[in-house]
Amino acid sequence: AAAPHEEVDIPKETWSFQGFFGKFDQAQVKRGFQVYKDVCSACHAMNLMSYRNLAQIGFSEDEIKEIAASVQVTDGPNDAGDMFERAGKPSDTFKPPFANEQAARAANNGALPPDLSLIARSRAGKGFAGYEGADYIHAILTGYKEPPAGFQLQDGMNYNEYFRGHQIAMPQPLSDGAVTFADGAPNTLEDESRDVAAFLSWAGEPNLEARHLTGLKAVLFLVVFTLLFYAVKRKVWSKIH
Ligand code: HEM
Repeated sequence: AAAPHEEVDIPKETWSFQGFFGKFDQAQVKRGFQVYKDVCSACHAMNLMSYRNLAQIGFSEDEIKEIAASVQVTDGPNDAGDMFERAGKPSDTFKPPFANEQAARAANNGALPPDLSLIARSRAGKGFAGYEGADYIHAILTGYKEPPAGFQLQDGMNYNEYFRGHQIAMPQPLSDGAVTFADGAPNTLEDESRDVAAFLSWAGEPNLEARHLTGLKAVLFLVVFTLLFYAVKRKVWSKIH
């Protein structure tokens, strides 16, 4: 059977982080976090992320403390053996929206919102190659349509052009103006979707820039090495006629 994301053609987008010199656009990734925090985090956990990881995309220590402190987490047991509630700390992982899978399914018509930590890398066990993950997230978020005439949409499901089988349990999460960005950037459905796809791509591969730089250094090294060897070869063989 075709891989789920092969069944429909996912439009190829252009991303600042693709290609040999690709870099994350830090302002865009920060806006993407805001989309996650304001919208997606109501249903999707990101269990591999800690608040302090946000320092890498340009949030200040104070901003991170404030973001972490905006949630209450359960900690403990304390000396008396009790669990207790406290404000979040930068070292905490992102607070998940549901206590467990049962609660998550109960709130979502039986469907399970997947953890988004690595969603840009794979989905339902299928790996995404290159930037397909960002393309896919962007496509799903912008792919809600009226179902075509005659399409049998089950109760509580939504029609999505790019979802396998076109029936998705996730209601359209974003729309024009759904998020007001702290930096005042445009916030159409398209902008919000691109920004959160960029954020989730960063979360899935935070060391992308280091990897690209390593590749560049390796190529530079090989170029220098080749020139050097060529010069040495010319010198060594210069007396042979
Ligand atoms: C599934 C992203 C907001 C509920 C998904 C999937 C992605 C995603 C990438 C996986 C689709 C797949 O399996 O191929 C996002 C993003 C959001 C967001 C980026 C914020 C902009 C929400 C919200 C809810 C929700 C607010 C709950 C109201 C779900 C559910 C599924 C899902 C239930 C499983 C769908 C199914 O298997 O039919 N989401 N989501 N999502 N999402 Fe979201």
